[in-house]
Amino acid sequence: DLRTPLTAMRGSIDSLLALGEAIPVEDRRELLEGTRNEAERLDRYIQNLLDMTRLGHGGLKLARDWVAPSDIVASALQRLRAVLAPLQVECLLPPQPPLLHVHAALIEQALVNVLENAARFSPPAGRLRVALEYDEQELRFVVADQGPGIPEAERAKIFDMFYTAARGDRGGQGTGLGLAICQGMVGAHGGRVTVGGGLDGRGASLTLHLPLTTQPQAEDD
Ligand SMILES: Nc1ncnc2c1ncn2[C@@H]1O[C@H](COP(=O)(O)OP(=O)(O)OP(=O)(O)O)[C@@H](O)[C@H]1O
Ligand SMILES: [Mg+2]
Repeated sequence: DLRTPLTAMRGSIDSLLALGEAIPVEDRRELLEGTRNEAERLDRYIQNLLDMTRLGHGGLKLARDWVAPSDIVASALQRLRAVLAPLQVECLLPPQPPLLHVHAALIEQALVNVLENAARFSPPAGRLRVALEYDEQELRFVVADQGPGIPEAERAKIFDMFYTAARGDRGGQGTGLGLAICQGMVGAHGGRVTVGGGLDGRGASLTLHLPLTTQPQAEDD
């Protein structure tokens, strides 16, 4: 749950307080870096939860702007570069995809949450594909991996708040909020999120569907 990062942080802080100077400098640094990473993760989560709650109560107005979907992909990949570094990431972007009229930060967050899961469940050096697809009605961000996949019977549940499940030795314990937040943010834009099979007959794919609207005139940017 949400307290897991706090428990880890308190553990590190207690060790530092109790042992302090007795801990070798390198280990001390590692404890501090771990604590900072957990704090950042918690901060992101609380921000996401607040955004989602505000969206649900109409307290957060969508700040829509015209944005190139490839920019959203690029910044999500940039934010996760450390997590994605051990994987073979393929990015399939069509040459001139239509623009989205969205609150870019929220859609980027939705994509980050899905990419984070794909990376966590991927085998070492596995392939991870991010693709953009579109037709007349909608634009899709498709994230596919080579992990254990998601059993049919579980596919509806994974969007529930606090639903989290490790698979085999992969996944570890999560908060179970990532996909609930993703669905909330995409839903606020009139879109939806679907689950399917992954790459080479294994793994999972998560697709964010976003409705397309009449494109802006070239002049009004
Ligand atoms: N790419 C994937 N491959 C296999 N299982 C997945 C994948 N993405 C999600 N799941 C399953 O769906 C569950 C819910 O995902 P969600 O992102 O909501 O929570 P979490 O990743 O466990 O925790 P959090 O995102 O809050 O850290 C995961 O615990 C996992 O069981
Ligand atoms: Mg997650």
